[in-house]
Amino acid sequence: MNESSLNELFSTLPLGDIRYFDSIGSTNDEALAWANKGAHDLSLIIADEQTMGRGRLGRPWFTPPGTALAFSLILRPTADEKPHLSRLVGLAALAITESLQKMGLSPQIKWPNDVLLNQRKVAGVLIELAWSGEDVVCVVIGIGVNILKGAVPSTDILRFPGTSLEDMLGYPVERENVLRDILSALIALRPQLSTDEFMNKWEETLAYHGKQVKVDMAGQTLVGLLEGIIPDGSLRLRDEHGNSVTVQFGDVRLRPYA
Ligand code: BTN
Repeated sequence: MNESSLNELFSTLPLGDIRYFDSIGSTNDEALAWANKGAHDLSLIIADEQTMGRGRLGRPWFTPPGTALAFSLILRPTADEKPHLSRLVGLAALAITESLQKMGLSPQIKWPNDVLLNQRKVAGVLIELAWSGEDVVCVVIGIGVNILKGAVPSTDILRFPGTSLEDMLGYPVERENVLRDILSALIALRPQLSTDEFMNKWEETLAYHGKQVKVDMAGQTLVGLLEGIIPDGSLRLRDEHGNSVTVQFGDVRLRPYA
């Protein structure tokens, strides 16, 4: 993988500029710095290895060389998209699920930002914003996908069981092809961001839909039936007293409740 092969591979996609790194701290950090310096819409940073990859809630994200897909896509949201920025995590997760469905797999989204195969995490999304005063000028969509077995961290450092595409398919896949499919799906889905159709797709792919789940929020645990997602992307649960409760994206961990 290198910058010129990526430029050639993605020549038919309406991307901005592409920057490739053999090794980097975090593609999201690089993307945020680039966003603040005027990167175009749909500019892409991709790295073979990340030494300081980050996940949600400040967790480390493992990206050993040659095994994983780690990239960040910079969006300059339009005025129509700005009211729906909280849906962008769903846009990224849905783009990943569509690319995996093309391989014959049955992915699910563990709200808010994980993609599961067979109840194991195969990919994660980290959304970060670049601000100018009160205004969001850019959104960085960071995506990590475990392509080969070597991308999956050892079980003792995992909070949730992990897997890779190689584990699930039984053979290795080319990360460039997975990247192309995710980008194509994301670009195709983007115009639907504000629609009910988009929300329906997101909801249909949810893991534990109609099941009992446990949500850990800062200092509080909630058990309830997972009913769906509301228009701002928050999760809707029915608690043990029959009350409807919404859980916002934030300092939240979701688990099945056995
Ligand atoms: C999570 O599961 O908590 C989100 C993981 C996001 C990882 C990706 S890899 C590319 C980009 N760069 C980072 O440092 N993180 C994201």
